[in-house]
Amino acid sequence: MASQHTIIVGGSFGIGLATAAHLLQKGHRVTIAGRDAAKLHAAAESLDGDIAAIVMDAADLAGLPTAFQAIGPLDHLVLALGGGNGAGPFATVDLADIRKGFEQKTMAHFACAQACLPNLSKQGSITFVSAVSAQAAMPGTAGLGAINAAIAALAPILAVELKPIRVNCVSPGVVDTPWWDFLSADQKEPTFEGFAARTPVGRIGRSREIAEAIAFLIGNGFTSGHTLICDGGIRLGQ
Ligand SMILES: NC(=O)c1ccc[n+]([C@@H]2O[C@H](COP(=O)([O-])OP(=O)(O)OC[C@H]3O[C@@H](n4cnc5c(N)ncnc54)[C@H](OP(=O)(O)O)[C@@H]3O)[C@@H](O)[C@H]2O)c1
Repeated sequence: MASQHTIIVGGSFGIGLATAAHLLQKGHRVTIAGRDAAKLHAAAESLDGDIAAIVMDAADLAGLPTAFQAIGPLDHLVLALGGGNGAGPFATVDLADIRKGFEQKTMAHFACAQACLPNLSKQGSITFVSAVSAQAAMPGTAGLGAINAAIAALAPILAVELKPIRVNCVSPGVVDTPWWDFLSADQKEPTFEGFAARTPVGRIGRSREIAEAIAFLIGNGFTSGHTLICDGGIRLGQ
């Protein structure tokens, strides 16, 4: 059987890179995409298997149809991109930053899913990566929660509208990736310890664990319109 071709937008580091490594181990052909060419190509070189890389800015909505046309036929799309715009206390959070968060994540996910359709296998899938801020009620995450809840809302609607293509979403809890590099090394440790203490499993997550959740949704042909929350239980509060 021919290898499944999976495109991971946001595959140059963090959760996307871990997903690329995991899917390559499972025999997929993988194309990773991201904006920074040097980091993207370094990521591709660190991986073993049938790997390709394409520089792409998913927030450049007008350029996406051409970018996906250049990639060609695909079986699965994983959208693992997104930054930290939109965080902050509701009363004072910068509305321009919220708008940027929607542009950089929600709109980018929406537009990539739309742009891939002409080349996406009808037996294939789309997997969005949202965030547990959409399910947990954590002060300071109203913007992030709205940005990520909008993405999670797409999965059931598109699962019906694009059938038989399967459309799912993974909602990660706190995971140590470069996403957190806005914190200094000294700030990261106590921040992660604080999150671990509030997480029922007693620790923060690993990129590999989110990759496994994504791979499950790609591989299970009877799961569609689902959001798989992979957060160690932090959404439950304690
Ligand atoms: N880490 C966590 O604790 C956590 C928790 C919940 C949800 N999430 C979500 O999970 C997803 C992945 O998170 P992560 O921690 O792996 O983030 P990360 O370490 O910051 O990696 C983000 C990836 O997305 C790419 N990217 C960002 N903006 C892009 C754009 N406009 N076009 C194309 N590629 C873009 C980055 O490469 P370039 O910068 O080179 O483009 C990089 O490959 C994000 O949506 C994040 O919100 C993360």
